[in-house]
Amino acid sequence: MNLDQLNDRIAVIEIEVAAALRENGTVDSIRRLDTAVLGKESSLGSMIAGVKEYPPDQRGAVGKLVNAAKARVKAAIERRLAELASADSAADAQAASGFDPTLPGTAEPMGSVHPVTAVQWEVERSFERLGFTVEAGPEMETEYFNFEALNIPATHPARDMQDTFWLTNGKLLRTQTSPVQIRAMLKFGAPLRVIAPGRCFRYETIDASHENTFHQVEGLLIDRDIGIPHLLALARTLLSDVMKRDVELRVRPGYFPFVEPGLEIDMNCRICDGRGCPTCKHSGWVEVLPCGMVHPNVLVAGKIDPEEFSGFAFGLGLTRLAMMKYGIRDIRVLNAGDLRPIVSPRRLGGPILASR
Ligand code: FA5
Repeated sequence: MNLDQLNDRIAVIEIEVAAALRENGTVDSIRRLDTAVLGKESSLGSMIAGVKEYPPDQRGAVGKLVNAAKARVKAAIERRLAELASADSAADAQAASGFDPTLPGTAEPMGSVHPVTAVQWEVERSFERLGFTVEAGPEMETEYFNFEALNIPATHPARDMQDTFWLTNGKLLRTQTSPVQIRAMLKFGAPLRVIAPGRCFRYETIDASHENTFHQVEGLLIDRDIGIPHLLALARTLLSDVMKRDVELRVRPGYFPFVEPGLEIDMNCRICDGRGCPTCKHSGWVEVLPCGMVHPNVLVAGKIDPEEFSGFAFGLGLTRLAMMKYGIRDIRVLNAGDLRPIVSPRRLGGPILASR
């Protein structure tokens, strides 16, 4: 082998060693590689033994070439052994700490339920304890269920009280949860105890206490010998239960074609403690529970005999109740999906969250 051929042979050996180092991942296999390449009988080792076969004037150069190659290979082997040792100690440390980086993360879940949902669940629990079942009705409703069956014919002025989103298919977005009264009567008959929470829609000007999309909970109790005292007792129990305190109520006459007599039950404003603020329109009272004794025409529409049964119904303003419970001054933040107004109190003209 002349000097050029020797150089080529050494280069090939170094390439093979580099590949073998990458492929071998254990200390034992690297040690075996060390002996195979650098040992006396090995490829590079035997080259040293062969130096004497070269002419005397070339022996020095051959020895230098082979020894430099041995030094490079030795250094590569040492680097690889050091790498394996540090990976082992990292794995040992990991095992000792009990930390397994391959497990999925355990980040805390972000967010929480919407305040209206939280209050809805409380109302549902409270009524379920009193034997009520929870029903749902469609948000896209027919004119019949939303108005006519509730004793509000097409020409009745009471339709103006609830500005309606009419749909091109002849239906409407329900303006109240009251249509579920009729659906529940037809489905279950009497006696009956049912509540129906859900979204309602009205085409109206939005301000601190009015949204075009808001939540109500309809309630209906039908049985024999039911009267207004039952209704008032239930209203007080429910509102105190949800507000976690005794609430002051104000009862006024109210007009809704589907009840007779009709009542408005107001709650003292939690935002200003009755002193007057934009949320309660400076009256100190917030309208939360319009109600009344079910009109005989409505019982008939629900196929219930008004001679045998009577009952009461109410339409709890769930969104307003959530505002009172959590001290939320402006209804708009509830649908905005934007947390900034809550942390930046001045944004909507005054603190949104009342101090507790
Ligand atoms: C009704 O919707 C009747 N269906 C309630 C009812 C049911 C009366 C059964 C008798 C018997 P009213 O339009 O007042 O009534 O609305 C009921 C409640 O919904 C209000 O007290 C108020 O708390 C809430 N509400 C009404 N309109 C809005 C609105 N635009 N934004 C937020 N809450 C509203």
